[in-house]
Amino acid sequence: MMSDRYAVIGNPIGHTKSPLIHGFFAQETGQDMSYGAIEGPVEPASGFSDTVKSFIEAGGRGMNVTAPFKLAAFAMSDERSERAELSGAVNAMKFEDGRIIAENFDGVGLVRDIEVNLQRPIAGKRVLILGAGGAARGALLPFAAARPAELVVANRHVDKARALVEQAAVGGSITACGYADLESMGRFDLVVNATSASLTGQLPPVPASVFSASASAYELAYGKGLTPFLRLAREVGVQGIADGVGMLVEQAAEAFAWWRGVRPQTRALIDRLTVPLD
Ligand code: ATR
Repeated sequence: MMSDRYAVIGNPIGHTKSPLIHGFFAQETGQDMSYGAIEGPVEPASGFSDTVKSFIEAGGRGMNVTAPFKLAAFAMSDERSERAELSGAVNAMKFEDGRIIAENFDGVGLVRDIEVNLQRPIAGKRVLILGAGGAARGALLPFAAARPAELVVANRHVDKARALVEQAAVGGSITACGYADLESMGRFDLVVNATSASLTGQLPPVPASVFSASASAYELAYGKGLTPFLRLAREVGVQGIADGVGMLVEQAAEAFAWWRGVRPQTRALIDRLTVPLD
């Protein structure tokens, strides 16, 4: 019997940690599976879905999806979870009885990292999310489910933040604003950088006044060291700063549990993959 086949698909895919992570999980839980990395074609437009279909025909059971295919994966799926639906993006697929079932575990992975690994409960806290792109969209429902006292989404283009908040319609106190509005919005317990600014070494125009004395600052990017956002947080005295390594491992653990029905341990792997911030 061949092992059950899984893979991550993206472009480029050379630096992916997914095969390492899932290989580690498989070993730890004693699951008979293989997990590869596939560079999906960007052209022609049907290249992505053709590659996924070939993988399914060859017996593939599931895939993780990374940039730039999260929207294409959404479009080709037959069934989607609510959080995949809201984020408009898919990061995990399961192939069952000829159907493609789609999920997005990025947000749950993030919330789990913050609450369980970093021991910062979100319930009753004031939470600020910077950015209203794909990453912020994925995080919104899981954050709302964790019952913060207040959830604020700030974006350069305020309309985009507003549309996101309206679409979420999950009740509770969720508001959208621009960066300048943050000056008068008081201090937050948790500030999450879900913009793509760090990828180009930029700082979102967030005022230092948003950080409370006991705030946590969380950078979604992984392995970028002390980004301008984390540097700002540290400069104003924030003690709890973290990057996205825990989120990376936790979203993988969610997908693994969804595929295999067994939840792997994550602590040792997070420690192993942690790149010191400075
Ligand atoms: P992702 O999937 O990583 O979220 P995206 O959907 O392209 O990528 O969204 C990028 C997000 O980063 C947006 O919220 C963008 O803000 P705008 O919508 O106002 O453009 C935000 N962003 C990118 N560079 C930024 C910068 N230098 N400062 C502040 N926000 C930035």
